[in-house]
Amino acid sequence: MDDQFTLAETAAQSVLQRTTLRPRIGLVLGSGLGGFADSLTDATRIPYAEIPAFPRSTAIGHAGQMVIGKAGAIPVAVMQGRVHLYEGYSAQQVAFPMRVFGRMGIRAVILTNAAGGINLSYQQGALVLIRDHINLQGANPLTGPNDDRFGVRFPDMTQAYARSYRELAREEAGKLGMTLHEGVYAALLGPSYETPAEINYLRTIGADLVGMSTVFEVIAARHMGTKVLAISCVTNMAAGIVDQPLSHQEVMETGERVKTSFEALLRAMLPRVQKDMAS
Ligand code: HPA
Repeated sequence: MDDQFTLAETAAQSVLQRTTLRPRIGLVLGSGLGGFADSLTDATRIPYAEIPAFPRSTAIGHAGQMVIGKAGAIPVAVMQGRVHLYEGYSAQQVAFPMRVFGRMGIRAVILTNAAGGINLSYQQGALVLIRDHINLQGANPLTGPNDDRFGVRFPDMTQAYARSYRELAREEAGKLGMTLHEGVYAALLGPSYETPAEINYLRTIGADLVGMSTVFEVIAARHMGTKVLAISCVTNMAAGIVDQPLSHQEVMETGERVKTSFEALLRAMLPRVQKDMAS
């Protein structure tokens, strides 16, 4: 069995063989937010099943392909759908696409997700810049022997979500006349939604958002020195806040509703992130 580094290198080469584009920015599109990938030009679409060792998404609303294409002038690699711990994958498998991005030469990632809103000042459909996270998934993609080719044994997480990226995201949102909140994302295993008591607990410990993804990707990215920007779409207020059951249907519908403004924000941020890497 090859190690993660070798597997990631093989997967990266198989992706790069299929396109002449050499993106430096990677994106991950969460539940209901996959539409951005359809708007890329010069696009090469690669189903996850065709990428060696790549985990395949099973969740509804996750297309399961990598799209390499251009957003305006900027080449990007986009994951249309991701896998989760609750699907039965390990933390290492969930983070594997970040390793592949790293071996492809990607130095910055923009991660998106659907999340439940815990902070009472949010509303359904709000976009929230993730400032920090609380990993309650009970796992970490860096457990096991450390591979120094990726990064150090004990990576720093104090600046996991790059301050400079958060600033430029706020600036671009302002120019578009959009409200962009900022908050702390708590990641739980799922797949059941939280109980109202769990949401009260999460609020008490400082969480503004709750979801079932993203943190393993952030940990693996930071391990490699990849810079991270992450945005949640509040697809629903978290359990017990409004007197209504939660459903995946609602999550998908809200994603669909915010799609236009969400994609406009992504598009506006890309040249800024690209420029930041050159400096
Ligand atoms: N909880 C957890 N994950 C989610 C939620 C939620 O309320 N909404 C979208 N993803």
